[in-house]
Amino acid sequence: MSNIKLFSPLSIRGVTTKNRIAVSPMCQYSAKTDGHPTPWHLVHLGTRAVGGAGLIMAEATAVTPEGRISPWDLGIWDDDHVHSFLKITDFIKTQGSVPAIQLAHAGRKASRDKPWMGGTKINKQNGGWSPVAPSPIPFDDDYDIPIELSTSDIEQIIKRFSNAATRSINAGFQVIELHFAHGYLACEFMSPLSNKREDCYGGSLDNRIRFPLEVCAEVRRVIPDNIPLFIRISATEYVENGWDINHSIYLSNKASKIGVDLVDCSSGGNSSKHTVVSYPGYQVSYAREIKEKTDMYTGAVGMITDPIQANNIIETEEADIVLIGRELLRNPYWPNYAKKTLTNTSNYPNQYSSIENS
Ligand SMILES: Cc1cc2nc3c(=O)[nH]c(=O)nc-3n(C[C@H](O)[C@H](O)[C@H](O)COP(=O)(O)O)c2cc1C
Repeated sequence: MSNIKLFSPLSIRGVTTKNRIAVSPMCQYSAKTDGHPTPWHLVHLGTRAVGGAGLIMAEATAVTPEGRISPWDLGIWDDDHVHSFLKITDFIKTQGSVPAIQLAHAGRKASRDKPWMGGTKINKQNGGWSPVAPSPIPFDDDYDIPIELSTSDIEQIIKRFSNAATRSINAGFQVIELHFAHGYLACEFMSPLSNKREDCYGGSLDNRIRFPLEVCAEVRRVIPDNIPLFIRISATEYVENGWDINHSIYLSNKASKIGVDLVDCSSGGNSSKHTVVSYPGYQVSYAREIKEKTDMYTGAVGMITDPIQANNIIETEEADIVLIGRELLRNPYWPNYAKKTLTNTSNYPNQYSSIENS
């Protein structure tokens, strides 16, 4: 076995990844309008499994139809969805990779067009719907004022997350990630800028993290003990008096106590006014700080494109996994390229073994 830590296995609960490289969840806006995956998803996720990533995370998958960013998002709100995902998870497993799913609710950022069609609002007459949120505050001028959720709506959404988690397990996923980042529903609850509620889900920090923590607890309750539970958070929203890294550490410590295993550390997305200055590894320090100050595993993401950079993050224990997004869109075989670069070996599937000696 290689002593390069990027290629060492990671075991969390009952699941072991063959290396520390994960495909970051990336919406493809290519599902059927009833939430079912299409051949695109099998090829997209399957190719990255062939490419050698240890963990393949399916994109933000909605737990309710209203929780989709667009009508073309994946969904897992119905038992019928289970069989559609099975051929994807089965294939990922044949490549020795771990299939993971990100469960999501888009909150006030729902009902939008595909990004390559401009990402604009989709009205009801064109198949859109009214977005919901903790408070009636739109994301931006171009967004509808969302409908404020009642406490019974909140309870139902929590249940929808746990039902989706059960279906995910039945569909063969071996890791569940809850999407609490990027200004979607849970993130909206967490931030004092988008949550102005006066009930037990708003106001103090403890109240604002009640919704995500209740989702974690309910999901943990229904999934088997041997299944790892991840959360993706925006470690900071880059706005004065907004959500920041100290709040993220506080949340992570609470989440750890109720059975969350790993914090996937992203940032931003809850304010249209903030500017994120991105550069290679710009979010890694959040993963490092959360790892240092909690007993969570962490994931680092954001402009990780170079094998030495990726390995350093793992070697120096800034994070336990690296999640790679756009670089794996450019090159699905990046894990094998990184392995060749760092160890002078690679693990292409047998079908491709002829390239090893060429
Ligand atoms: C096309 C695309 C779709 C994305 N969809 C999601 C998503 O579904 N869930 C999520 O948490 N992040 C999503 N992201 C963010 C990525 O997972 C990742 O955090 C971000 O691209 C930074 O990593 P990178 O520099 O390696 O691309 C998306 C990014 C891209 C480029």
